[in-house]
Amino acid sequence: VKMADCDGEGAQSPLQLYERLTAQGETVRGLKTAKAEKSEIESAVQFLLKLKLEYKQVTGQDYKAGCPPPENLVLHDNGPTAEGATDEDEVNPWSVSTTNAKGVDYDKLIVRFGSNKVDKDLVDRIEKVSGQQPHRFLRRGIFFSHRDMHQVLDAYEKHKSFYLYTGRGPSSQAMHVGHLIPFIFTKWLQDVFDIPLVVQLTDDEKYLWKDLSVEECHRFAVENAKDIIACGFDVNKTFIFSDLDYMGSSPEFYRNVVRIQKHVTFNQVKGIFGFTDSDCIGKISFPAIQAAPSFSNSFPNIFGDRKDIQCLIPCAIDQDPYFRMTRDVAPRIGYPKPALLHSTFFPALQGAQTKMSASDANSSIFLTDTPKQIKNKINKHAFSGGKDTVEEHRQFGGNADVDVSFMYLTFFLEDDEQLEKIRQDYTSGALLTGELKKILIETLQPMITTHQERRKQVTDETVKQFMTPRPLNFHF
Ligand code: TRP
Repeated sequence: VKMADCDGEGAQSPLQLYERLTAQGETVRGLKTAKAEKSEIESAVQFLLKLKLEYKQVTGQDYKAGCPPPENLVLHDNGPTAEGATDEDEVNPWSVSTTNAKGVDYDKLIVRFGSNKVDKDLVDRIEKVSGQQPHRFLRRGIFFSHRDMHQVLDAYEKHKSFYLYTGRGPSSQAMHVGHLIPFIFTKWLQDVFDIPLVVQLTDDEKYLWKDLSVEECHRFAVENAKDIIACGFDVNKTFIFSDLDYMGSSPEFYRNVVRIQKHVTFNQVKGIFGFTDSDCIGKISFPAIQAAPSFSNSFPNIFGDRKDIQCLIPCAIDQDPYFRMTRDVAPRIGYPKPALLHSTFFPALQGAQTKMSASDANSSIFLTDTPKQIKNKINKHAFSGGKDTVEEHRQFGGNADVDVSFMYLTFFLEDDEQLEKIRQDYTSGALLTGELKKILIETLQPMITTHQERRKQVTDETVKQFMTPRPLNFHF
């Protein structure tokens, strides 16, 4: 995945600015109530003022809490706007889309979300601290954005450990290769840092959002757990839980949910998630449940009553709104803010304008697909950056930046040199689309077959082991 140069400007819509302002206002108020340090309050106020100024520049109006900018607002000229800044990429927990064939502009997202770029410095540092070659997802900018990673590494170097938290919304039995990205990476982190992991299966979330019964969602959670376990997690260091089970069995977890619920207003979640007055109250309070695993004392079996153990969350960037909220409340309830590592999306076969969807069989390679299905889907549906005829392709070459088969290879082909050679040959026209697709097919077929074999070995007993609250093998 090639990343565009960062242009910084023009990345915030009035509504996004408004959301950030509302959240920042809450932060300032929270810090004041919590009698936080003066310098901390001051810098939060400074940032609030900066946002207010920016808001006025963009909208021509003063910011007023509770009054979002009108949708038909005429934008004020905000200096030179970035190319394509008018058609904003949409990225939120429920929808991802862009008009750009190369995919979402991730550098702009970093500016918009206020996170940091995973740059060469950070990748080098991870290599130094872990003593391992960085995972290809880090080498290739697939985990491209972060919050507080340097802090995590500083502490780790001083022998202060941390834990990992990731999750999945079990909306169906069918998982596709895109769903594996955070888990493949999390497994690598678990191995190189030798730390515990908690995996939240939000069956409650899926019940609230989809037309499914509670029983179905819970069943999907258990089925999905098998695919997650098949990624190779260490049973002695991993706790997988269904919200529907764990919420009712852990007083400590529920106490944190309530603490979070008390410190986030309806206004805030409206701003962050776009909830409206007609959304059910389950949805409105759900973000507190996704936030709670970020705090170590939600898992007394693993961490006892320690509330100060740093959490690191690897996730796709669309989950960031949950954790912006989490980081906002954390200091107000006396907990450390979780650190984050964000991934790009795994593109649909049809092109990088959207992510893969589990509900469209032809947009994805499923973990249950046969070698033949994989071959047919890629040959038939993978969007090609090649030319229409062989003659033209040989003469002008293909465009790897929009070619879905090439993008998939950046996710799954381990060898950097081989990948670079493919890119060059495709761009020059030496490699044809059919040949590129063949390389991808031959990469994915054994990968999926291996996954299926490992999944078959996961028995109900194994699932039960992973999903039972228990001490993990590990000390701080
Ligand atoms: N909401 C996520 C989804 O629908 C599931 C989830 C819960 C999650 N906690 C998480 C994802 C932490 C990443 C990190 O997929």
